[in-house]
Parts: sequence; structure tokens; C-alpha cells
Amino acid sequence: MILHKFKNQSDLDRAAADLIISMVRSKPNAILGMATGGTPVGLYKEIVKTYQAGLVSFAHAKTFNLDEYVGLPVTHKESYRNFMQTNLFDHIDIQAGNTHVPDGNAADVDAECRLYDKMMFEQGPVDLQLLGIGGNGHIGFNEPDEHLSRGTYKVTLKQETREANKRFFNHIDEVPTHAVTMGMGTIMQARAILLVVKGAEKAEILDRTLNGPITTQLPASLLQTHPRVIVMTDCDVNYKVSF
Ligand code: PGA
Repeated sequence: MILHKFKNQSDLDRAAADLIISMVRSKPNAILGMATGGTPVGLYKEIVKTYQAGLVSFAHAKTFNLDEYVGLPVTHKESYRNFMQTNLFDHIDIQAGNTHVPDGNAADVDAECRLYDKMMFEQGPVDLQLLGIGGNGHIGFNEPDEHLSRGTYKVTLKQETREANKRFFNHIDEVPTHAVTMGMGTIMQARAILLVVKGAEKAEILDRTLNGPITTQLPASLLQTHPRVIVMTDCDVNYKVSF
């Protein structure tokens, strides 16, 4: 892993956006793995600014999002499809048909998961996967557990995850109980991974992700086994290389 530390979140957003932009400039038909939540909002703004300045085009790029809530209409302001439209896709020249977010309202969710993996297998691998991290160490919505899933699957969200995300809703009861998420195997197939971690409250989980034991109880720790992970953070942490 490579760790880049930033003095503030705006420098971090710009650097993360620049990495994604340089990927698309060097490979216009790049496949990007996208993330939602509070973490990527600022970097998506930077990407939009660069697009509006005429300095990058997404006309040939494709995207696959990590996850989607189960049971929220796509028009709901907190659906991850809506998040992607309002924060990024509506403001750049990506073709609608080239953007993919799992369908959390599919009549047959298991079939939807298999279809998502099939599309990613046939069109992939993802060139650059953007990740945030949950306070409990989840990536995508792969929650800490005794076992993790290889492929895309329907997950029961942990109470701490629903609590963390209730800030986006009026009430905890409105936060969905389930989501569809890329599995760990799907995420780990990306050629390169950009993990963005913001805020002092994430310093401890980031330290354990970088330096702690690799365990399914901290799904992000599996990133230690991936050959190309770039971590960008404003947290005060160090990567203690042990050789
Ligand atoms: P956040 O969520 O960006 O809203 O902190 C990250 C995550 O849960 O993966």
C-alpha cells in the first residue's frame, strides 16, 4: 500500500480527483469503480470542475458502483443511484448506459447480484476502484463478520452502519436494513484501488486497516493483500512497513 497524507480535506479531494482524472485521460475507456457516502462528495465536485473547464471527458468511460440500498426507490434522494446522478453523472459527459449501480429493488435480488457480477466479469476488470471506509471497517457494505462474500450479495446492515448513515435521513427507522454490495472478491479484482479516508474519527480504523491483522472482522484489512492500493487521508496515521 502507498499512503499519502494531506493537511486538509480540500487538498485530499483535489489529489483523489486528479488520480481518477489521470486514469481517464490515459485510458479514455477506463472502467471506474465508484463509491457513495460523505467521503467522495468533495472529490466528485473537483471532477465536475475539471470537466466543466474542458480538461477531461468521460464519454468513453464506464462506471460500476459498489452498492445500493434495498427497498429505496431510485428516485429517493438517498438512493445511491440518485446520489451518483446528482453528485457526478448529471454534470459530466458520461453515457447513461455506461453507468451501473446495483438494483436494490430487483424482484429477484439474488439474480440481480449474479447479473452484476457477470457484467463486471465480462466488461472488467475495474481499472480504478474508489473506496471509502465505514467506522467499523466495512468497504462497500461488506460488514465485519466471521465470513465474507466473494461475489455481489444482499447484506444485512449492522446497527452501527445504520446509525452512521441516519444523518442522511430524517430518522433511523428510515435507514434501510439491507443493501446489495459488491463482495470482497469483486472489489479485490480491481487493477488498482484508491481508498479515501477523511476525519480524525477514522484514524483508529485506518491504522488497524494498514497495520493490524488481516481479518474478516475488519474487511478493509484484506486490502493489505492487494498489490496496488493507494490510501489518501487527512488522518494522522503511519504505515508501518515491516520489512
Ligand atoms: P462515509 O461512509 O463516506 O459517509 O463516511 C463511508 C462508508 O461507510 O463506506
